[in-house]
Amino acid sequence: MAKPAIPAGDNYLANRYHADPMPKPMDKQQFQKAVLDWFQDHGRKDLPWQQQPTPYRVWISEIMLQQTQVNTVIPYYQRFMQRFPDIATLAGAPLDDVLHHWSGLGYYARARNLHRTAHVVMTDHQGKLPGTVDGLCALPGIGRSTAGAILSLAMGQSQPILDGNVKRVLSRCLAIAGWPGQTPVHNELWSWAEHYTPTQQAQAYTQAMMDLGATLCTRSRPQCHACPLVDGCLAHRQGNPSAYPGKAPRKKLPERAVFMLVLTNPDNEILLEKRPATGIWGGLWSLPEGEEAQVLAENWGRKLGQALTVNGTGTPIRHTFSHFHLDISPLYLRVRPEAAAAVMEPGGAVWYKTDLCDQLGLPAPIKRLLGQLANESEGVRP
Ligand code: ADE
Repeated sequence: MAKPAIPAGDNYLANRYHADPMPKPMDKQQFQKAVLDWFQDHGRKDLPWQQQPTPYRVWISEIMLQQTQVNTVIPYYQRFMQRFPDIATLAGAPLDDVLHHWSGLGYYARARNLHRTAHVVMTDHQGKLPGTVDGLCALPGIGRSTAGAILSLAMGQSQPILDGNVKRVLSRCLAIAGWPGQTPVHNELWSWAEHYTPTQQAQAYTQAMMDLGATLCTRSRPQCHACPLVDGCLAHRQGNPSAYPGKAPRKKLPERAVFMLVLTNPDNEILLEKRPATGIWGGLWSLPEGEEAQVLAENWGRKLGQALTVNGTGTPIRHTFSHFHLDISPLYLRVRPEAAAAVMEPGGAVWYKTDLCDQLGLPAPIKRLLGQLANESEGVRP
């Protein structure tokens, strides 16, 4: 039996198919035609970043779309583009303003990297994003797949991508077992991504692969009956597409418990504190936080010049980061009028009206906590 077509120069793949000649990956031309034909009829063509797909607009969308669903991203993207229509405006804006427009999207390192990259592009690249994978990958927050997406979607270059959606499509179509976080699996997927990327129509092909993964070849209950690759899909032939890609070894996330002070003044404003520039929620406004309720209240009591006594805690809320669970117990306290006038460290803390939530960059769980507070009547607050 003839050896199936494989990307050249990869011994790992050669050994795999030499050892087991049974699986026959889809032919390149057949694969590309199926994907491109499907895109014509079913691909997404009216997403905001597909209108005037400049490198800047596509870059912003790709960063927002990392770890975040299209429907969530759209309103953020539109507000961001209105405020920062080009890279010079983004580079010239204060980081606080950028973080504010990111507030609620999570993974704030993405926003800080956007801002840093805008500066680098203005100073080192005459305000234009580089037109090569290496040039883009040298910028903060841009990896190989994001570089491929920018080059293919905005510049029409034939460059492969390998985001989560494409990993799922390829690992199923080719029945590539194992978790893509493992280097050999990752490399094998990249080889196939390169192999199947067409030299023409790269823009449509890239968008099509993302759309296939997002709309049909979904993590659970994939809609194989509607998939243009169904006839050549090895996982479908095996009857177990959901087994691909292999899962990451499960590890139990550590838990961290903190108290947060919800301090209210006589004008019904809440005290917010600016977090340090690095670490979680770096540079965002948040509630004063500490691991011990009494110590936290005493410290802030000293700063405000009056004794604060903890009467009780609210229902804890859990926020899960990629590497730990944060359990937040709110402590509700009221301060007397004289504290409202207490002098704060400049830029370090503010009294803030909860119904003006939109004006500061706040982490999503803090927004949620303050939202609950705004909805609660005075009487039911502890
Ligand atoms: N996910 C990442 N990039 C995307 C894009 N351009 N369109 C839809 N979903 C995406």
